[in-house]
Amino acid sequence: MAELEEGIVSLFQDRKGTAVDRWVATTCGYCGTGCGLYLGIKDDRAVAVKADTEAAVNKGHLCLKGLYEWKTLHHPERAKVPLCRRGREMHPVTWEKALEETAERLRQALAAGGPEAVGIYHGGQLTLEEYYAIHKLAKGVLGTPNIDANTRLCMASTVSGYTRSFGVDAPPGCYEDLDVSRLVFIFGANPAEMHPQLWQRILRNRKLNGARIMVADPRLTLPARVADLRLRLRCGSNIPLLYGLINILIKEDMLDRDFIRRATAGFEDLARAAAAFPPERVADLTGVPAADIVAAARLFGRSPSAVTVFCQGVNQTSQAVDAVTLINSLHLITGKIGRPGSAPFSLTGQASALSMREIGGGGSLPGFRNPENPEHRRQVADYWGIPEERLPRRVNDINRMLELIDTGRLKVLWVIGTNPAVSLPDLGFSRRQLEKVFLIVQDIFYPMETAAFADIFLPGAGWGEKTGVVTNSERRLNLVRRAVAPPGEARDDLAIVSSVARYLGAGGLFAWQGPENAFRELRELTRGRPNDMTGVDYALLEHLGGVQWPCPEGGRGTPRLYTDGVFPTRAEEAQGYGEFNHPEGRARLWAVPYAPPPEVPDGEFPFWLNTGRIIEHYHTRTRTKRIPELQALVPGAYVEINPHDAARLKISEGEVVRVVSRRGWIEVPARLTDVVAPGEVFVPFHFGDLDPGEGGRQQAANHLTGRNVDPLSGQPLAKTGACRIERQEAGSMGQEGQGENCSG
Ligand code: SF4
Ligand code: MOS
Repeated sequence: MAELEEGIVSLFQDRKGTAVDRWVATTCGYCGTGCGLYLGIKDDRAVAVKADTEAAVNKGHLCLKGLYEWKTLHHPERAKVPLCRRGREMHPVTWEKALEETAERLRQALAAGGPEAVGIYHGGQLTLEEYYAIHKLAKGVLGTPNIDANTRLCMASTVSGYTRSFGVDAPPGCYEDLDVSRLVFIFGANPAEMHPQLWQRILRNRKLNGARIMVADPRLTLPARVADLRLRLRCGSNIPLLYGLINILIKEDMLDRDFIRRATAGFEDLARAAAAFPPERVADLTGVPAADIVAAARLFGRSPSAVTVFCQGVNQTSQAVDAVTLINSLHLITGKIGRPGSAPFSLTGQASALSMREIGGGGSLPGFRNPENPEHRRQVADYWGIPEERLPRRVNDINRMLELIDTGRLKVLWVIGTNPAVSLPDLGFSRRQLEKVFLIVQDIFYPMETAAFADIFLPGAGWGEKTGVVTNSERRLNLVRRAVAPPGEARDDLAIVSSVARYLGAGGLFAWQGPENAFRELRELTRGRPNDMTGVDYALLEHLGGVQWPCPEGGRGTPRLYTDGVFPTRAEEAQGYGEFNHPEGRARLWAVPYAPPPEVPDGEFPFWLNTGRIIEHYHTRTRTKRIPELQALVPGAYVEINPHDAARLKISEGEVVRVVSRRGWIEVPARLTDVVAPGEVFVPFHFGDLDPGEGGRQQAANHLTGRNVDPLSGQPLAKTGACRIERQEAGSMGQEGQGENCSG
């Protein structure tokens, strides 16, 4: 794919003369890299995209998805009018009717069942201003604990891991670290497919500076193939591997003792826990040769700088939060944090998931405030002018919300800009809950999988149709800009949320004249907080091409955090839950437990099941399936099987097989490839089931995944499960399946 991508980039860049009326500077709306680009407009329609050669993030490059992004704007399936259900059919209604009905349903549910009877579940691709409005509505008006985002499936474990180690969910590193580090350790991430422009920066660093690349991944990804050292661990064995590295670092004294003394707490406990993981034991638990574990620890320990990038191979597997804290500890005990080229560094999946985390998501209050800290609660309640008791102390994540629907306590759910009918685990269970609840869906396409369950549908505005801030993986606030009007009667999400608030009688709290007005309000709530953005306005973002927080008044942003070795772990600062009070602001080294994953292969389900993303598509394909160039590249789901396993099972390339887990099954073509190790299979999670007209194939990976979650973050273990592969009987290939009761 990398060659193809390069090819398209240069092909496009040769066509400089595209005839457009104007170019609008904006930021890519897909992954958390946050590439700068220009959207080309002709006759008030988007017709082209070109990379921004000045953009600090991508310096004139874009990946496949960014290049075709303009094609999402005028697609015929863009939703243009609000809809309400009457019986089995959805009918167009006026905005007044749709908003009135939405507010009325929320009001009735609140009156009958209290704050737990309503809930909001939203995506990670909205703007900072929209998240702020949603969270203000949920917590400040509805007073409900049922507020969560699809980041629960994505970065929740990173949120908890950073908070446990550093006090606050703030990514310490920056992209420049990828340019200058002497060692890039890619742990459970595949930037070549998920963050292509960052992968290009890593490769450039290797070419220009001879940086080393080390990869820990069960799959033989492109980065793993070209790495100087690769650790091909078994699914679900992150904890022993990380402890194995720490074990050697301690044993061979490759530590920064001064930093440990000055800036951390808990080293003795960590050292004791790591002592139980000598290389031979780790080799047994992970499948990585003991010599490679020693070599990896030495590469890390002796390198003058190191950055560890991590993503879903950490977040979506068992003991994810524990793994994040051990990655942080790797950097803390070696002093590889807070200086150029050295940081633990999470790569965000969605364009603005970090915006959401910093302004009230991930269970926090705006400005990474702790909802259990009375002072923090008072600050927010006073600023909003609401009674403090209304603010929930703890939020219910989406898993809990589904249980509340199941038990009949949550009656009205409002889904904004995300597609849970494809992305939630254990789809049989999850879809039953979407069916059961009174569902309001706000999105930009109709039809879409989740909208099939909707009682009310509200058409929103998409990327290119609204202005606001998006925060990328390196804490950089970027602007996305409205270049064209939303289609038909569609409205931007800030306006929709504010209107619902008005219909609920709380319009005074949402009286903004546009997004910048909302930004000015929310930025005041970051004053003195780790994400202080009081020095930022839209003009500065325009002028500087993005700013990395913290950026207090008069500032110009902060590339990397913790340069002074002081961490926000004091109780008055921390976002965490009580246990983080460290009066001197030290980082915490945790001795985490180790337990094998809750589901492991056995006789009945002999394969590890791994699910994940590929470069051609984005999340549940709401947008990318409508881009012919991307859809043509990968039109459907498949399962990667190692050729040895395939030979044993007599499965041939392209043969449609049934993948079966304890929860359900899918039918997909087999791809024979050594990208997966023997005993492991991989299914991309982007695909919903095909409609009967398209062959009716059940292919959504989440029919297979289960509801086991990380106990600390509530994140589902989408990358660690067990399954079996069944060959189809002749003639039964297209057979329509019913239900999920195929576990035999
Ligand atoms: Fe967009 Fe990410 Fe591709 Fe950049 S790397 S163009 S942000 S999808
Ligand atoms: Mo994520 S896909 O960074 O919420």
